Amino acid sequence: MRVLGIETSCDETAAAVVDDGRHVASNVVLSQIKDHMPYGGVVPEIASRLHVEMLPGIVEQALRQAGADWNDLDGIAVTRGPGLSSSLLIGLASAKALALRLDKPLIGINHLDAHLYSVFLSPDTPPPAETCPMVTLLVSGGHTLLVETTAPGSIRLLGETLDDAAGEALDKGATLMGLSYPGGPAIERAAQNGRRDAVEFPRGLQRATGEPDDGVRRDLCFSFSGVKTALLYYLKKHPIDGNEQHLADVAASYQEAVFASLVDRLERAAREVGATTIACVGGVARNKRLRGLLDDLAGRMGVPLLLAKPEFCTDNAAMIAALAGTLSPWPDLRLDDLDADPNLPVGE
Ligand code: KG4
Ligand code: ZN
Repeated sequence: MRVLGIETSCDETAAAVVDDGRHVASNVVLSQIKDHMPYGGVVPEIASRLHVEMLPGIVEQALRQAGADWNDLDGIAVTRGPGLSSSLLIGLASAKALALRLDKPLIGINHLDAHLYSVFLSPDTPPPAETCPMVTLLVSGGHTLLVETTAPGSIRLLGETLDDAAGEALDKGATLMGLSYPGGPAIERAAQNGRRDAVEFPRGLQRATGEPDDGVRRDLCFSFSGVKTALLYYLKKHPIDGNEQHLADVAASYQEAVFASLVDRLERAAREVGATTIACVGGVARNKRLRGLLDDLAGRMGVPLLLAKPEFCTDNAAMIAALAGTLSPWPDLRLDDLDADPNLPVGE
């Protein structure tokens, strides 16, 4: 099944062509980072306007790179949530128009479920059925989740952040350190020659106990407000003042505190459910230090680690088209039934 995927949930305008849920024929992503940079974060009005301008060209490019014709497509998949509603609507309207014009089936895809599936876009990854039970850490700018996949397509939320997402904590921390947006890659670069133990930052909820919180257990949840506040107060006392080594030390220590809590929770969850595979996806999973820490964890636990390829960690349409390709036959859908859902939970 050859699927055209469209993704416009936040600040990437993306289209891709994927065959049979695994083989990526093309993957085109236009990042709007430079347009949002002056504002230190994503501005929804700017994001949706750029999606309107850029999406038609991006879709054509994805088809061209795949060597595909409109008639080669078996269906169109589009992100329906979660995300910025004004941005989601652009992708949905375009996908509906294409489906109507080409008389092709259309499916709405959950962006979070697509991130979870992104590890299967590497040809050497075993098929989904061979990886269960698997615990996945999903770490992006908007979400930090721990999810158990009990069988392909069957998932259970184990933990989530109680305040900021991990990527958001890095983005906000970077702003405090005077680094540019997006903060995750900026901190990674700044931290390269830093000492990770130079500053002792708190590692959120490390001693939390097991009472349930919104259906998930607190000791499998995350909190990054403490480490962010600690950074704020630390920098008031010890400003960076152009000292590069000091900046490197603070960046490395801050990044380490955020990652330590991610790895701690993943290990706890994976041991508890007896996971036979662990995985990590989402924008923050591009980080080499985090990838290294997860590799160490997998070694300690004696289980395989699946990491999304860097280009499939940050938002992309290949993961949307790929997940759609595994769901055939698609449900019969009236175009009016497909709507944006900005708060769509994982697994729904
Ligand atoms: O998955 P994504 O592209 O968008 C969302 O769905 O949120 O993730 C974006 C997040 C941003 O917070 C960004 O700072 C973070 O991923 N990020 C990184 C790296 N590259 C992107 N964080 C740490 N290290 C990186 N190399
Ligand atoms: Zn995302």
